[in-house]
Amino acid sequence: MEIQAVKGTHDLIGKDALKMSYVESVFSAVATLYGYQEIRLPIIEHASLFNHGTGEGSDVVRKEMYTFNDKGGRLLALRPEFTADVVRAIISNKLYAKNDLPLRYFYHGPAFRYERPQAGRYREFNQFGIEAIGLNHPMLDVEVILMAVQAFTMLGFEHPIVYLNSLGDEETRKKYREALISYFEPLLPNMCEDCHERFKINPLRMLDCKVPSDHELALKAPKLRDYLSEESQKRLELARKVLEEEGIEYRIDEQLVRGLDYYGEVVFEIQVENQGNRLALGGGGHYGKMVKELGGPDLAGVGFAIGLERVMDAMEKEGLFANLDDSLDLYLFPLGKEALAKTPSLALRMRALGYSTLFPYEETKLSTLFKKAEKAKARYGLIYGENELKNGTVQLRDLKNQTQKEIAFADLEETLDHLLLDEEESHEH
Ligand code: HAM
Repeated sequence: MEIQAVKGTHDLIGKDALKMSYVESVFSAVATLYGYQEIRLPIIEHASLFNHGTGEGSDVVRKEMYTFNDKGGRLLALRPEFTADVVRAIISNKLYAKNDLPLRYFYHGPAFRYERPQAGRYREFNQFGIEAIGLNHPMLDVEVILMAVQAFTMLGFEHPIVYLNSLGDEETRKKYREALISYFEPLLPNMCEDCHERFKINPLRMLDCKVPSDHELALKAPKLRDYLSEESQKRLELARKVLEEEGIEYRIDEQLVRGLDYYGEVVFEIQVENQGNRLALGGGGHYGKMVKELGGPDLAGVGFAIGLERVMDAMEKEGLFANLDDSLDLYLFPLGKEALAKTPSLALRMRALGYSTLFPYEETKLSTLFKKAEKAKARYGLIYGENELKNGTVQLRDLKNQTQKEIAFADLEETLDHLLLDEEESHEH
């Protein structure tokens, strides 16, 4: 019986796994520049964490969460996102009492949503994200956006575009909600089923409905900007000003409400354009109440997350992985029994020097060794038989350029250092 992979999951093998690690490493390095530390959290949490934290009004919790009862009868969930997870950890470990604020954490790993699988949408996908918790300062909101843009730029994206909006404070959203209810109520009979649900739970979400006729109606809905308090307007203005000063492309998008319940004030998404299509690679924003609602002190937070698969897809389309190197440094070509017997210890030495190395375990024809070296994407071959062993030499073959020279075994380390380190440096530039 052949067992298939679960629908909506995907395997990352070899170079694809390397691509994901690369994106994670660039984002982690940039997060470190902004003073963030890594946090690794459980994938399973009590389902109630996401009900209360992420919000029962969101599709993610209402329709897409993987929940199950464990053998002890607890209702658990596979995390659909990390923000509630991070807030839970901050409260459980009382991190706010032991550290200077804001707390700054970055994370990456799998998240789970029972969505209809399609291009760029999986049921198990990976996120990288950051959360800064414990300081309610508009500059911190902006810094989070700047960090995301810096990381995208370092990956090679030339024009990441920030879509920006403000959801205002609680009072604003309450008044605005009433305005939306009055506006949408008479229109409801002609709107989609999801909008009926959203009308009951969170009418704000009706603004980002993708059904074209509903979208038309949403465009004519009352504008949140007309309800924003002076304070909220100032926060949004600061974000705009800093992005402008830093030369970062941004657009105010009044339909941007984000799919999760916890946001207030500044929210944003980062998109890139590819062949005329807008691709949302990540998003985030400010959340004022979640820490308190989950039983912690009254601390505000701000953060964002990217979908690693989406970022990888976009990078693929833009050719941004061209320099990612998954080659092997050395393949050993022992010719004859005596040479084969010396091979494991030579491989050990090469690996100890830091060169990735493979070798055959059985006596193998030279032509087969060439094929194996090619499959392993080996950069250099070390060829040695009876003569070389006798003379204390080795044939060093450049497998890319098909050139070869004999060098003294004693000079091997120095020669390889030159060749491979120079190559590494030229890759980096
Ligand atoms: P989110 O917008 O729900 O935000 O997800 C962030 C990113 O995860 C999306 O922009 C998208 O790239 C990716 N993503 C979401 N669902 C899928 C899927 N089914 N398949 C592939 N990729 C997906 C959050 O999760 C918030 N926790 C972000 C945040 C952090 N806000 C404040 N702090």
